[in-house]
Amino acid sequence: MARPKIALIGAGQIGGTLAHLAALKELGDVVLFDIAEGTPQGKALDLAESGPSEGFDAALKGTNDYADIAGADVCIVTAGVPRKPGMSRDDLLGINLKVMKSVGEGIRDNAPDAFVICITNPLDAMVWALQKFSGLPANKVCGMAGVLDSARFRHFLSVEFNVSMKDVTAFVLGGHGDTMVPSVRYSTVAGVPLPDLIAMGWTTQDKLDAIVQRTRDGGAEIVGLLKTGSAFYAPATSAIEMAEAYLKDQKRVLPCAAFCDGDLGVSDMYVGVPTVIGAGGVERILNIKLNKEEQEMFDTSVNAVKGLVEACKGIDSSLA
Ligand code: APR
Repeated sequence: MARPKIALIGAGQIGGTLAHLAALKELGDVVLFDIAEGTPQGKALDLAESGPSEGFDAALKGTNDYADIAGADVCIVTAGVPRKPGMSRDDLLGINLKVMKSVGEGIRDNAPDAFVICITNPLDAMVWALQKFSGLPANKVCGMAGVLDSARFRHFLSVEFNVSMKDVTAFVLGGHGDTMVPSVRYSTVAGVPLPDLIAMGWTTQDKLDAIVQRTRDGGAEIVGLLKTGSAFYAPATSAIEMAEAYLKDQKRVLPCAAFCDGDLGVSDMYVGVPTVIGAGGVERILNIKLNKEEQEMFDTSVNAVKGLVEACKGIDSSLA
């Protein structure tokens, strides 16, 4: 049986890391596409030359021609510009919307059966536009944000509690922006919810509030440290987790920016919700019950995403 084909649209910091991880995990053959001439070719060759030492079987090809992504099983989109210190993800909207148009058309014409994972920011608006531009079914187009935001939350919690990250479950809802909602009530250490851990004296409400805020600011913290770009190792790892769930039909329960059609009270837009990812793409959305406070935070986040979607419609009338 032929190996799956993984097309990476954008061969920058995240794209290169995605290619490396996909090859190391032998998820399939990798095509790196970028408009910058030489970059995808150079990265593909460099990575292929790591194969003999690493011992992976995966072909890597770099290209500037969309025809080379033909028949891809998975497309992961990072094309666009990342933010610099002082910028919010939303500041990228105008420029990255144009990029989504060309990428969406490239996928539509060459890989219409692919499972598409968008990483380009501002995430929730860009994945919405990418689905419109590509015309692919909504359950086959999703955005990577929740796995990353949850991983950040889990990391900070595991350090606070001095326990293995493996035993910390957490998820983050809403848009991938300043208003995201790290869910305290649904996050646990080996099944014990965070509020119970406060009662047990493992942490305090103040410390937990600080961790929630640090999670919300997780991307900006890295941008501030790197100064020349945004995070790439953890974003790439998160998207690979989603791609693997699809390719291996794992039915993983992962938060991602999924198309909501009445789910969690949200209609006709993409926002971060817990989903099941398997061979059918986004197979299900978990319609969890939110309490009053969580619902208010979620609504604020959804409204922020709505504002960005409206801004997209204002820029490109074909989306209206
Ligand atoms: N088509 C294909 N590739 C493009 C296009 C386009 N129209 N426009 C830009 N690119 C490529 C650039 O040439 C660059 O190689 O996208 C790549 C982006 O790589 P980086 O600048 O290194 O950005 P990266 O850190 O990978 O982040 C990409 O993900 O997390 C988000 O906010 C981040 O939107 C940004 C995206």
